[in-house]
Amino acid sequence: MTKPFIAELVKRMSLREKAAQMTQLTPLFFGLEEDMDLTGPLGEKQLKPDDMKHVGSVLGVYDASKFIRLQRKHLEENPYGIPLMNLCDVTHGLRTVFPIPLAMGCSFDMEAVKQSAAVAARESAYMGIHVTYAPMGDLVRDPRWGRVMESPGEDTYLNARFVESMVAGFQGDDPRSPEKVGACFKHFAGYGAAEGGRDYNTVDLSRGVLREYHLPAYLAAVRAGALMAMTSFNTVERIPATVNKWLLRDVLRKEWQFAGAVVSDFNSIDEVICHGVAADGKEAAYKSVTAGLDIEMMSTHYLNELEQLVAAGEVNEALIDQSVIRVLELKDRLGLFENPYKDCDPAKSEEVNLSPEHRRIARDVARKSIVLLKNEDVLPLAKRGKIGLAGPFAESRKVLGGWWALGKAEECVSLKEGLIQAAPGVEIVTAMTGELERIRNGGDVKDEVADAVDTLRDCETVIVAVGEHMEDTGEACSKTELRLSPNQRKLIEALSEAGKKLIMIVFSGRPLVLEEAEARSAALVQAWFLGNESGNALADVLFGDYNPSGRLSMSFPRSIGQIPVYYNRLNTGRPQKSESDKDFVSSYLDSSNSPLFPFGYGLSYSRFEYSGLSLSEDALTASVQVENVSSVGGTETVQWYIRDIAASVSRPVKELKHFEKVSLQAGEKRTLHLKITKEMLSFYADSSSDPVFEPGEFQIMAGRHSEDISGITVRIEEI
Ligand code: BGC
Repeated sequence: MTKPFIAELVKRMSLREKAAQMTQLTPLFFGLEEDMDLTGPLGEKQLKPDDMKHVGSVLGVYDASKFIRLQRKHLEENPYGIPLMNLCDVTHGLRTVFPIPLAMGCSFDMEAVKQSAAVAARESAYMGIHVTYAPMGDLVRDPRWGRVMESPGEDTYLNARFVESMVAGFQGDDPRSPEKVGACFKHFAGYGAAEGGRDYNTVDLSRGVLREYHLPAYLAAVRAGALMAMTSFNTVERIPATVNKWLLRDVLRKEWQFAGAVVSDFNSIDEVICHGVAADGKEAAYKSVTAGLDIEMMSTHYLNELEQLVAAGEVNEALIDQSVIRVLELKDRLGLFENPYKDCDPAKSEEVNLSPEHRRIARDVARKSIVLLKNEDVLPLAKRGKIGLAGPFAESRKVLGGWWALGKAEECVSLKEGLIQAAPGVEIVTAMTGELERIRNGGDVKDEVADAVDTLRDCETVIVAVGEHMEDTGEACSKTELRLSPNQRKLIEALSEAGKKLIMIVFSGRPLVLEEAEARSAALVQAWFLGNESGNALADVLFGDYNPSGRLSMSFPRSIGQIPVYYNRLNTGRPQKSESDKDFVSSYLDSSNSPLFPFGYGLSYSRFEYSGLSLSEDALTASVQVENVSSVGGTETVQWYIRDIAASVSRPVKELKHFEKVSLQAGEKRTLHLKITKEMLSFYADSSSDPVFEPGEFQIMAGRHSEDISGITVRIEEI
């Protein structure tokens, strides 16, 4: 039921005013700058100065005082007293920057993920931000795509848990409460499947695959109560998501009962013309509004075309009213009609931004996101003696990753700073640590490399901090080369040839191709981009003050040619039986099928052993024993996978269905259980909306990671 005051407002508004309410523009348009006239941006978008007082939302005011000025001006001018809504991209922290989402996915710690979102919400709320354009639920299998850094990874189940935890952290029980913001999940739908990993590229998925793998994370956001949804740039079944009626009306609204507002992505209504499914702005507006797209971000076809479309009888005004109602209801759910400034408070904003408490939480989340990939007994390091430190990330503070909101490099802790702080007694010898910019280039580094080897001659162990430039990750940062740059490879080669024990730390926003680096390292640590507390979190892990517990949220390919490589694949009719089996089976002549590091993989300073996988009498509870067989206490992520052996459609060789983090003291043993549910055994048999359960044999698997599990087969007729 629409609240009477909202219905009343809609009744009083003209069509053009309604179209403006459905429009979102950047601050540039709102006259806070001096030179607002019709020869500037307003003119380009064919806006009339009068339109601005009716525009419903602003994209990206990251300043509390500025927002107060803007809202005050807006309320003075808007005849209905409808407040402006401020939406920003706060994806992994605002001023306190957390690890990139792909890294946070590796924590497998949903409490930590939720906490990071709660900190981001607090900082955002005091800054006058009402909704964040997060979480991103796009499932990713192609590390060439720069936006994998924004995703929780390649697994449907993990992504869904991640997304719902983020929504809970941002919104709390009620987004209008203090220190909370609304969440807008994105990019609906399937954006992560861009062909060739090239951003904005075509997506072509069967409905079964879309439903099975890609949609569940968005559905989880809806179920968690996210207030908004954003469409994606790509096509789905050759129709851009922004105007895709099946996605927006049938799936999102009808099946999932999503009642919140849907926003386009940046300019994506206009891009429908480029996609070739609308001849002009009028047709683009027609298709978007009839598909149920409520808010147009950064193009103005609604403003310029909706009036005529209604006048010509092509669009029913009732449809427009529905969208305006959704926009006003959103403002109401955020409490903006009662308090248009919500928590906005410049002094409070200053106080909470990057507060010691927020930094403490960021450090904790960061160390949980680090993944130890290899360790030939060189880690943890002793806090004494001499250690070498080389590579472009050794002293760099450019460790925020893409979408760093208001994070500042100068407020980040570099690796070297973290090491010194943690172990002041260690002598650190640095070499070739400069010129981060040169990561991108080859260049002749022969002399520098020779000097580095010479400088480090007395260091038996050398930490080499390498990776990709943080600005090579995120939107529009697709790549076709994922190995370390040639100059970094030369440094690694020379140090390794000089007989050094190399502890390689990799900073990246995506899985890189690390086969060569791995072969030359004694220890390999995936650091991703960890945000402000990067150096401290890494030092915690390197010196063993924190026992690493991260597990990969995305497989690491051996080569570009293997992509996509992901664990929950189908079996094919000719699966490979062993590495050497290459005869007319599904394999590569020149490579293994397996990734370098699989999904779920990650080491600890402890060692865990699994035993006694068994089933209860009714076969609906599986149990497994996990024992810490080492002398150090640590945390294991117990992973449960299921395979449906024969069904009406081919089913993945395994799918993660549950995970649990357990902390075990040295020698401690615990029994863990999986309660098998119908949902875990069900799947999308065809393109219809409901998952089905088909009786038969299932394999229930438990273990350390997707390639190290043991299984037990069970017949389940009924559940
Ligand atoms: C991105 C979105 C983002 C929006 C607003 C777009 O380019 O695809 O993820 O929320 O810009 O900044």
